[in-house]
Amino acid sequence: MDISLSPAPAPDVVPVSGTLGAVVSGVDLSVELDDTTVVALEAALVKHHVLFFRDQELTPAAQMAFASRFGPLDTHPYVAGMESSPEVIEVITEPDDEVNFGGGWHTDVTFLERPDLGSVLYAVEVPPYGGDTLFADQHAAYDALSDTMKQVIDGLVAVHSPGRQYGTGGYSTKARSVRTKDADTAVAASVEHPVVRTHPVSGRKALYVNGAFTTRIKGMHGAESNALLHFLMRHAVEERFTCRFAWQPGSVAMWDNRSVQHYAMFDYRGHRRHMRRVTIAGDRPF
Ligand SMILES: [Fe+2]
Repeated sequence: MDISLSPAPAPDVVPVSGTLGAVVSGVDLSVELDDTTVVALEAALVKHHVLFFRDQELTPAAQMAFASRFGPLDTHPYVAGMESSPEVIEVITEPDDEVNFGGGWHTDVTFLERPDLGSVLYAVEVPPYGGDTLFADQHAAYDALSDTMKQVIDGLVAVHSPGRQYGTGGYSTKARSVRTKDADTAVAASVEHPVVRTHPVSGRKALYVNGAFTTRIKGMHGAESNALLHFLMRHAVEERFTCRFAWQPGSVAMWDNRSVQHYAMFDYRGHRRHMRRVTIAGDRPF
């Protein structure tokens, strides 16, 4: 019997919290997925904002092939990819590293005009404990604001810069097992994005400032901008908006970078952690 024509069973999607995140089972990400499965995963991603998969076996090429089903892949302007595959970043923490990569709440690459749509992160080697990644739902954070605060921030514009992370002496340049580059250009680069962005698929609004890259609110005095950003950044990652993922070798997380912030917990000093990251190019936020 030729079973190649049988439609693949729909992936099983089980939420991990009341706010965001879902574990997806019944999908082997290492083989070419049929269009129906890709559409189902896209819908699950927009609904749950971050999807988790267990027990996958992905070569860098297979990880790129999977991610590219959701859009063209991106390369990072300040982090070197693998020599054989520039689109793949090896996110490694060695046992004697003092700083990890991504160890604070952030949205990826918001210093770009077109920040990534999403990321696919694959666990090659995990520490014996710790090293979880936390995610925060920025739609839920926006929705929880008062109508008055929503009126204050709707229409505001924020400036984002890679300088504090990737400029000379920047935090991410100290994560020495991840190879950063072009620190000179990082210092001066900046871009403007709305403080509240609209998801291009769901139409939902999301808070869109983050502690790693957002430097100020356009048109405000420094003290005003600092006070408002301080409130928004704390509010954005309140526990009620979060979920947390404990990695195993072969785990995959795929997040919608238009909807979430994330945080790579560094609580495993003395141990090694090895992940591979591929990113999908995104649109200009509006
Ligand atoms: Fe990140």
